[in-house]
Amino acid sequence: MPVTFTKSALLLSLMLGLGQAQATSQQSPTALATTSGIPHPAVIAHRGASFDAPESTAAAYKLARDLGADYLEMDLQRSKDGVLFALHDNNLQRTTDVATKFPERKDSPANAFTIAELKTLDAGSWFNTAHPDRARPAYAGLKILTLDEIIDIAQGNPLHKPGLYIETKEPKQFPGIERDLKDKLQDRGWLSPVGSTLAKNELTVGQGKGKVILQTFEKSSLELLQKEMPQVPKILLLWVGEGSIEPKSKVTFAESGDKDKATYYAKQEPKDKAEFEQWVDYAKAQGAIGTGPSAALATGGDQSYSDLVKPWMNQYTHDKGMLVHVYTIDDAADYKKVMDAGVDGIFTNRASELLKYYKRPAAGSVAQLLEVNGF
Ligand code: G3P
Ligand code: CA
Repeated sequence: MPVTFTKSALLLSLMLGLGQAQATSQQSPTALATTSGIPHPAVIAHRGASFDAPESTAAAYKLARDLGADYLEMDLQRSKDGVLFALHDNNLQRTTDVATKFPERKDSPANAFTIAELKTLDAGSWFNTAHPDRARPAYAGLKILTLDEIIDIAQGNPLHKPGLYIETKEPKQFPGIERDLKDKLQDRGWLSPVGSTLAKNELTVGQGKGKVILQTFEKSSLELLQKEMPQVPKILLLWVGEGSIEPKSKVTFAESGDKDKATYYAKQEPKDKAEFEQWVDYAKAQGAIGTGPSAALATGGDQSYSDLVKPWMNQYTHDKGMLVHVYTIDDAADYKKVMDAGVDGIFTNRASELLKYYKRPAAGSVAQLLEVNGF
């Protein structure tokens, strides 16, 4: 056999082999989600069913679970005495009565309080004041929840067990929280290997391979999460601004003259295509299974940010063999827009509405399920 032929054959087989390797590493989003045990598209209940009940409380998480949400989303913090708990804001002012119970410490970060102190706070009454149309007497006095308690809720409905979608919130304030989280999940059996991928129409995400998804905006936390829990799916959250994607314009909100932040953010975009792509590339290189980009909402509001789910962006992420879970969307028009743009799941405060949009029946109405749970 002539040497030249052998070289050609070798080259050809290498090219074919490379093609195969690329094909297997770049599964379709549906295949990637399915083999990872992640519903597609995924319903991620943002701070629980937080449109209908006070965010991050038992009422919100039980409602999201019983509606049939795939994941209970939470922002993880650590108390002064080392207990992991869920709270979005850095301090307690917006969602509790800290100003009444601890007036001299009302501006302190939540992590300056012990869990016993946090447990004295009323984390529900603010909702009744802010949303009288959705108020319920039983919301008054609801407590801040520990991660343990949220796990109990996730496991508490024999008919539907959602997964946990856990964000390390401001992780630089909590050195070692990634390790603490691993220890807690391990203790509770949430890191044990499970064989099953998600069967079609199966709603038991909390019992399969994708039962925990870890999320963070912080590169350093992503790296630590990957070190501690390499087998657990991870999402790098994205937005345009400090600490994340560099904006094209350096004009600040104060300088912009815009009437509100949503208007300002809607005009923000990545410095250039390469800047967006390098964040996706970074996430991939650090072992993330996907990204969690922001969206600009049709009606604005305080959860409307830069549009990072443009079709080319989602395509780029999919071409890397990664998923896109967009935050935080509550209206049908926006659900349609982002689904048409190609996202693989949605963080929503209104799990009931998103389930309806996906034509997935809930076990009951919001009012019925709240009442069943004593709210
Ligand atoms: O975790 C996704 C989304 O929740 C990010 O925004 O500020 O609500 O945690 P935030
Ligand atoms: Ca979050």
